Amino acid sequence: MVILNTSSSLVDILRQRRQRLAQLIDFPAILWSGSSNPRNFAANVYPFRANSHFLYFAGLPLPNAAIRLEAGKLELFMDDPQPSSALWHGEMPKREEIAQMIGANAAKPIAELEFLVADAATIAVQDAATWTKQSQLLNRWILPQNPPQGIDLELAKAVVSLRLTHDEGALAELRKAAVVSVEAHKAGMAATPKAKREAEVRGAMEGVIIAHNMTTSYNSIVTVHGEVLHNEQYHHPLQPGDLILADVGAETEMGWAADITRTWPVSGKFSSTQRDIYDVVLAAHDACIAKISPGVEYGDIHLLAATVIAEGLVDLGILQGNAQDLVELDAHALFFPHGIGHLLGLDVHDMEDLGDLAGYEEGRKRSDRFGLGYLRLNRPLRPGMLVTIEPGFYQVPAILNDAKQSSKYHNVVNWERLSQFVDVRGIRIEDDVLVTTDGSEVLTAALPNKADAVEELIG
Ligand code: GLY
Ligand code: MN
Ligand code: MN
Repeated sequence: MVILNTSSSLVDILRQRRQRLAQLIDFPAILWSGSSNPRNFAANVYPFRANSHFLYFAGLPLPNAAIRLEAGKLELFMDDPQPSSALWHGEMPKREEIAQMIGANAAKPIAELEFLVADAATIAVQDAATWTKQSQLLNRWILPQNPPQGIDLELAKAVVSLRLTHDEGALAELRKAAVVSVEAHKAGMAATPKAKREAEVRGAMEGVIIAHNMTTSYNSIVTVHGEVLHNEQYHHPLQPGDLILADVGAETEMGWAADITRTWPVSGKFSSTQRDIYDVVLAAHDACIAKISPGVEYGDIHLLAATVIAEGLVDLGILQGNAQDLVELDAHALFFPHGIGHLLGLDVHDMEDLGDLAGYEEGRKRSDRFGLGYLRLNRPLRPGMLVTIEPGFYQVPAILNDAKQSSKYHNVVNWERLSQFVDVRGIRIEDDVLVTTDGSEVLTAALPNKADAVEELIG
């Protein structure tokens, strides 16, 4: 367990959050923090990450704990460490001290929870030991992969409505994560000229995050094969004509995330083909951010990105036809197959443990269209929401080989022209954008994204 300095402002923030929850539900909620998963034997575990819904209300990453929330009150359930644990883990704060740090109204051993589960709702935790315990105590299946039902669904909806927009406490943490992530990307760019493999650039980036006593908010992507969207290999050598795609974000000690992608040339200079495509992706990125404002549909922002990318590819002679028609045909998705972004908060894809409950406005469902199916957020924007904007261009062999065969797309691509862009395998530019009352604020704006400025940061 980490011991954190907490302050009365944390206590106030947590109190406000549970009071707001109490206005939305009239039954108790029990949220578990989860437990560590063994890696190769019981005493050697993966790093502990507390469940995000627990963290939102409890504020601290306490393993093997639970909180019971009712009518604005918080009861903490956890056991004091065994006396022997001090030998291996040092002295840890006792339950009563932690209760004070988070402003709990009561603190009890975890075994007492079983007498207080009647009529309580919960949200499934990802680790099997915990969801098994949740299911046993509440006497119904609480499975992470199953959509919540009944009062669990009511609780999930209430929590989503709170976590969709960020309070001042959350924003302070999200800004910290953004600042450190910006520094990590600058370090990655600076380390590139001397690096021989992707792993060295990754090391430079994650080194900054670790040095701030933070962790990565997801597995870093640092690759010369950006066409593999979530590439988690780091062994490739860096060649002078390669682009590095780095999608790396920090997570604060309290669990709040950032999510940034930059793409830069190993040599320090984009080739003309790389720069042409980079500028198309950047044009889509800038157009989307300019459009962010309360009331705007995030789905329209995705379509705007698709249109700007289609227009840019038509101008470059890669796509043929009218941009609007190409988007209706999903031709842009041959090169931009994912959604324009997602919610960001305690989770990098915030609240995706609840499926599309957070990302999709009630009554909306995922489209089965090739160009829309991976859209993770489909709601009107509201002040306090934090979203990513992350357009990209990729030459994914599995998609393009298929399109060559298919009559639907065969004729909309100038395949000969495309072959001149062989040195552009994957480009993505991703920033974290807060919706404000009158527009937006880019929390990651301190990291340059114009091609010239990115070149200047290398070496
Ligand atoms: N880092 C994962 C994503 O951008 O969605
Ligand atoms: Mn993202
Ligand atoms: Mn990302």
